Amino acid sequence: MSARILPATAAAIAEAAARLRAGELVAFPTETVYGLGADARNEAAVRRIFAAKGRPADHPVIVHLADAGAAADWARAMPEGARRLAAAFWPGPLTLILPRAAQVSDLVTGGQDSVGLRVPAHPVARELLAAFGGGIAAPSANRFGRISPTTAAHVADDLGDAVALILDGGACPVGIESTIVAFTEDEPTLLRPGGIRGDELARVLGRAPRAPDASAPRASGTLASHYAPRTPGRLILPHALRAEIAQLGGRDERVAVLARTLARPADFTGFWITAPADAASYARDLYANLRALDAANADAIAIEAVPEDDAWLAVGDRLARATRGEDDDRD
Ligand code: TXA
Ligand code: MG
Repeated sequence: MSARILPATAAAIAEAAARLRAGELVAFPTETVYGLGADARNEAAVRRIFAAKGRPADHPVIVHLADAGAAADWARAMPEGARRLAAAFWPGPLTLILPRAAQVSDLVTGGQDSVGLRVPAHPVARELLAAFGGGIAAPSANRFGRISPTTAAHVADDLGDAVALILDGGACPVGIESTIVAFTEDEPTLLRPGGIRGDELARVLGRAPRAPDASAPRASGTLASHYAPRTPGRLILPHALRAEIAQLGGRDERVAVLARTLARPADFTGFWITAPADAASYARDLYANLRALDAANADAIAIEAVPEDDAWLAVGDRLARATRGEDDDRD
């Protein structure tokens, strides 16, 4: 049996909600990436998420909610800064890590004293949450260690029949995962850069959230080799890219290139993608591009490095992880 992909009509969303109520898994689009959803109050259903992804059971999953008002059912406290971020960016690509409410399952929290909450903005996710009427636990709908999916076909490629139903809402408009900010210490901590930029957070909080240190709660998105293609990849500064490609080609290696400012050289024979020049469009296409580079079956992937400013922080973070080889946590 292969995965059923259904266009996200009202009838398909109603079926998806019924399947969630029955304890089954449903993949659905969000504005960031596709999520692999289960009823967050049903432990057997949440367990199925870990089995389908091949993900270790002690990794926490984000609970998706219809609105900020529902956060009180899942978090026992909402500090002032978290309240302000929720008011500014929910619904949207922001996840808040908050002190957990007592009744939240350890499977959802990974046994920690905190819970991750997000109110997504994608219309299909919102309709599904409204139809289901509760919290949906959902990590990205990829196998553990693989690139997050931004289309229904990516989900089917990765998870196949491990998921009852995939709601197809087209390509995800943000394209990289939500920004994660933890409110479990004295100060807000940025656990994962993402769809909301650091300067946007700083504007609302009055100062930038601090970077995580060893005492911060674990988010495996902050560990090294997340989001990695299988082909070995390298990040190369724009001015050095042309020479580097020539050198690899000279060693008879087949090269797959993700360029941004460099034009494809006339004599280049490998696989070439020119990514969009602006950060938002680059992010939207990034995971589909990484999958295409990987599918090119090259000996090496060469990626043109991106600028180091706020607008590119989350993209730079994903590129750094995609080109690092360490074997590590990969959610
Ligand atoms: O954009 C997104 O956030 C997507 C869509 C589907 O919403 N979801 C997503 O989930 O990226 P996932 O599980 O692939 O990544 C969430 C990260 C994980 O690294 C997890 O460890 C961390 O968030 N996380 C979740 N709850 C946490 C908690 N209570 N404390 C610390 N980290 C947490
Ligand atoms: Mg993930």
